Amino acid sequence: MTSPSRPHSTASADAATSATPSAWDGTPPGASAHPRVSAASRASDAYLAELFSLEGRVAVVTGGSSGIGRGIAGALARAGASVVVVARKEAELAATADELTAAGCRAAWVSGDLGTRDGVRTAAEQAVRAFGEPDILVNSAGINLRPPMGELDEHVWDATMAVNLEAPYLLGRRFGPGMAERGFGRIIHITSQQAHRAFVQSGAYGVSKGALESLARSQAEAWSPHGVTCNTLVPGFVMTALNARLSSDPERVAALAARTMVGRNGLAEDFAGAAVFLASRAAGYVTGQSIFVDGGFSVH
Ligand SMILES: NC(=O)c1ccc[n+]([C@@H]2O[C@H](COP(=O)([O-])OP(=O)(O)OC[C@H]3O[C@@H](n4cnc5c(N)ncnc54)[C@H](OP(=O)(O)O)[C@@H]3O)[C@@H](O)[C@H]2O)c1
Repeated sequence: MTSPSRPHSTASADAATSATPSAWDGTPPGASAHPRVSAASRASDAYLAELFSLEGRVAVVTGGSSGIGRGIAGALARAGASVVVVARKEAELAATADELTAAGCRAAWVSGDLGTRDGVRTAAEQAVRAFGEPDILVNSAGINLRPPMGELDEHVWDATMAVNLEAPYLLGRRFGPGMAERGFGRIIHITSQQAHRAFVQSGAYGVSKGALESLARSQAEAWSPHGVTCNTLVPGFVMTALNARLSSDPERVAALAARTMVGRNGLAEDFAGAAVFLASRAAGYVTGQSIFVDGGFSVH
């Protein structure tokens, strides 16, 4: 199901097309209108847009209704992309799309269960109906069930692999070849420090994230020659619903913050810049990489 609200142009794009040089030369009110300053500022805007603007791109963000995925969906939309967020809970999805639309962005949502193969396929086809085939795929939907290793049964294993690994694989298979055919694509997976080290009963979760980083490299090998880069963002400890139990324990939160170099735990908005970069033209020569966005947690 997609949001009933029709997507529309961003407010900033409207302002840019309506302003004329005689009406406004780019100088902030009260500042001196030195011609070299405004020319430099326009050149800088054009340069940054050429590198990083996502105007005209379509992005599908799984898990885009919460936490890191929601932060990334907002960043891609504000950078110009038309964004479809995919998850299960309709209220959170609608709230995310509404917030972005109210901010002048183009956004839609699809409710689907990425824990089953049919659910993934159906969600993918519904996502395409909103804005067309995606140029950018972000796989942020994930679960972390954390039973002790001895109690890790097949249900937990299967559920974890289905959402964390199989859905990204199936979505990559659905969208990757089309991106390659069109000569541009960006696939961004969200993995975890647990792809690299055990941490608080990593169990099946760590295995799924390790495999997801391998999937990114396999996809990169296959599609990078055709303009499709495939990378992973690797969070440390981020204050989201996923780890509500740990993040509600002030002592654990402080201890984890102390393990970073920056001195605090991650927030969803910390992923905005890295996601826009990886999704942009600027990152065309970055592929197959695992990029840690963790305040230095992994190297401390
Ligand atoms: N938070 C951290 O410290 C941390 C650290 C390392 C890695 N990560 C990774 O970052 C990613 C995002 O996590 P987060 O912390 O932002 O978690 P979050 O706030 O719990 O968000 C998880 C998202 O995934 C969706 N989702 C879960 N199961 C789904 C299913 N079966 N079908 C469709 N959507 C599903 C959820 O929506 P619905 O429930 O509505 O379906 C939600 O939008 C995950 O891949 C996670 O493994 C997080």
